Amino acid sequence: MKLEEVLIVGGSGFIGTSLANKLAERGIRVRIPTRRRSRAGHLLLLPNANVVEADVHDDAALDRLVSGVDAVVNLVGILHSREGKPYGADFEQAHVRLPQRLVAACRHNGVSRIVHVSALGARADAPSGYLRSKAAGEEAIRAGAPDIGWTIVRPSVVFGPGDRFLNLFAGLLKYVPVLPMGGASARLQPVFVEDLTELLATALEWPEAVGQTWDAAGPKVYTLEQLIEYVGEVSDHRGLVVPLPMPVAMIQAAVMERLPSPPLSRDNLRSLQVDNVTDGPPLPFGAAPTPLETVAPLYLSPTRRKAEFFGLAARKREV
Ligand SMILES: NC(=O)c1ccc[n+]([C@@H]2O[C@H](COP(=O)([O-])OP(=O)(O)OC[C@H]3O[C@@H](n4cnc5c(N)ncnc54)[C@H](OP(=O)(O)O)[C@@H]3O)[C@@H](O)[C@H]2O)c1
Repeated sequence: MKLEEVLIVGGSGFIGTSLANKLAERGIRVRIPTRRRSRAGHLLLLPNANVVEADVHDDAALDRLVSGVDAVVNLVGILHSREGKPYGADFEQAHVRLPQRLVAACRHNGVSRIVHVSALGARADAPSGYLRSKAAGEEAIRAGAPDIGWTIVRPSVVFGPGDRFLNLFAGLLKYVPVLPMGGASARLQPVFVEDLTELLATALEWPEAVGQTWDAAGPKVYTLEQLIEYVGEVSDHRGLVVPLPMPVAMIQAAVMERLPSPPLSRDNLRSLQVDNVTDGPPLPFGAAPTPLETVAPLYLSPTRRKAEFFGLAARKREV
């Protein structure tokens, strides 16, 4: 199917920005809703992008957004929610109800293609509300078949310039050299954002992707502690991770949950109780994933950033 316009719900965020650029490069128009236009300022100059202030939780607004596009990508995801069983109300709205309503809106508007981003480790019996709600979201998307051709992509933690993962630890290590943490031995397989969005773009264009669920991971498995130590090395702020026993870490997380933008919640800690790694190939089609070590220093290392800045300034002076 020739794609002319794609709706990217949650497209103003980290992964969405990379995907929007990728689709724009291919000459595909993107429609991107945002709750606040100021949050999507970085997309306003992108050719072929139509940034729309809209409430995607409103049925009529969602219907208008879906109307006239060839495909939908869903990237809405949150890390924190009120508590609840099997998941809290905020997870339910963002991860379960929204996919259900997107499927309904696609059906209503005759849109037959959805690519949905879930998360590695999503399972109905997972230890955290985040992962349980992501599993319920996947089921909501699969229920769109056969009239809606779906593809689900399940990334491990995603890295790249502007990520909220490695940058979070780089920011913490700048001020706190000793990090007492729960879940330090959790295993993760970080995937580069450009590899992930290449996969999403391929999924949109490739008919054989319909009905497929793909994991997306990087070439190497690390413990959280190893990743934080690596971030410390490249950002010139070496730190010491002090693994905390889970009951103590839970108390620490309960306190952090009271902060305006909590760096960690009890539910996040529960997610870390299961490995975030794939038991299959890291990417489909035998694609070679990008090593973390080739990208992370470019945005985490202050010396690399300075060298690039002065290199750029020198090149500009030569022109
Ligand atoms: N980043 C990772 O490491 C990672 C790993 C595994 C899975 N994922 C999944 O990948 C997807 C995209 O992640 P990301 O890192 O790009 O996230 P992000 O940077 O936080 O972007 C998510 C976007 O969704 C929108 N959004 C957030 N909460 C919303 C809500 N309650 N209602 C409506 N819109 C909301 C926001 O748009 P506005 O603020 O502009 O409205 C935001 O730009 C998510 O589903 C996430 O769970 C990410």
